[in-house]
Amino acid sequence: MTFTDGGRKGLWIGGRYGPAASWMPVVSKADGRVLAEVGRAGADDARRAVKAAAEAYPTYRRLPAHVRAAILYRVAEALETRREEVARLIAEEAGKPLKAARAEVLRAVQTYRFSAEEAKRIGGETIPMDAAVGGEGRLGFTWREPLGVVAAITPFNFPLNLVAHKLGPALAAGNTVVLKPAGATPLSSYFVAELFHEAGLPAGALNVVSGPGGEIGDALVEHPDVKAITFTGSPAVGKRIREKSGLKRTILELGSNSAVIVEPDAPFDLAVARTVEGAFQYAGQICISVQRIYVHAEIYERFYSALIEKTKALRVGDPRDEATDVGPLIHEGEAARVQAWIEEAVAAGARIAAGGRKDGAFLEPTILTDVTSGMKIVREEVFGPVATLVPYRTLDEAIAMVNDSKYGLNVGVFTRDIGKAFDAARRLETGGVMINDIPTFRVDHMPYGGVKESGFGREGVKYAIEELTELKFVMVNLNF
Ligand code: SIN
Repeated sequence: MTFTDGGRKGLWIGGRYGPAASWMPVVSKADGRVLAEVGRAGADDARRAVKAAAEAYPTYRRLPAHVRAAILYRVAEALETRREEVARLIAEEAGKPLKAARAEVLRAVQTYRFSAEEAKRIGGETIPMDAAVGGEGRLGFTWREPLGVVAAITPFNFPLNLVAHKLGPALAAGNTVVLKPAGATPLSSYFVAELFHEAGLPAGALNVVSGPGGEIGDALVEHPDVKAITFTGSPAVGKRIREKSGLKRTILELGSNSAVIVEPDAPFDLAVARTVEGAFQYAGQICISVQRIYVHAEIYERFYSALIEKTKALRVGDPRDEATDVGPLIHEGEAARVQAWIEEAVAAGARIAAGGRKDGAFLEPTILTDVTSGMKIVREEVFGPVATLVPYRTLDEAIAMVNDSKYGLNVGVFTRDIGKAFDAARRLETGGVMINDIPTFRVDHMPYGGVKESGFGREGVKYAIEELTELKFVMVNLNF
């Protein structure tokens, strides 16, 4: 199979490529060439995919856990073997620098391995029934059952690993899936569908429909046979899913304007290096990218100089180049939007301390100072290579500024004082707190998800399995 020779990939439904009414090109974000054409599904195709998943479900859910695990292990192994090929595919279709694309592939290998492992330990617990008056002589216990057909809707920024975070747990638990990958990056999803097929996944257990978000998304979300929707993307689409999904289970991983706090006693060099990485990895197109940097006034000047120096040293360029740190944004319109936000901030008094220039879809890594909390560049999710730097005088003040956000995904706190760190962890309104690290830190078995408009539900394979299964309680009356 090849995905970059300009050929066609139809819709993957019922364990094979099928026809598509129309086609859409997938372009290389590195050089604009057409990598392949993929099927452009409509609502009817989405419904066909749900039908295939619903038909496969009764058989698939009864596969023994060790068989589901073996399939997931085989996918992990195949991905590992073909890691360079898929990393290059991600570099092309997502414009992700090769170094970061390789890291994503290794994470996806682990996500499928964790899924294989978790498939074998989806257990329950016994309930001490006689703790309640009236419960004497009864045996109570729980187990977990799959939900049925899961619709997975995924973003462009981790086209392999965020797909793995949907498919791995859903399939580990015995659900079947219809996957709608991002329009800009569907090729790695078709790649993975083929790997699952070769690994022995029964036909129909995984279906992939690429095409326009609204039409396919609505058809999936409103379909009575779809029992759960797992989505990563914008809060606006998350809200639309909530509105349309009725009583279906929804797991929403949405946006953020994540922050770091750097205290005077922080491990200084680590804080600077990790902050630069967190702000500019994949050109800031990560939900947990460092967008707001709060630095104690005592060390502000020193931190400022080190941050600017490291930011300016980043290499912007072709994502296929081994040396590139920062590639293009997903398309030029996004670079223009982010630049407009920078200009708006500058017009309102912000100062560009580094970067700021755009060239096509490329935007220089940019640091802004003299910002205020009302500016879009601070308040909204930028999803681009821009971070704002703000001094503070007390930790209380820093925590208040971090919490002054409609989002709450992850936050980083740099300090050597463990008491202060835990106090901050308690008071910060986010799903995750990374002490002496950046909000961008993620390994794939840890719980991951947000509060407020960052969504709800948790990923991290074991936690996603909990979201994608139903707890059943069984009681046996032994009083006879
Ligand atoms: C995201 O951008 O939503 C996920 C970030 C990650 O998995 O590292």
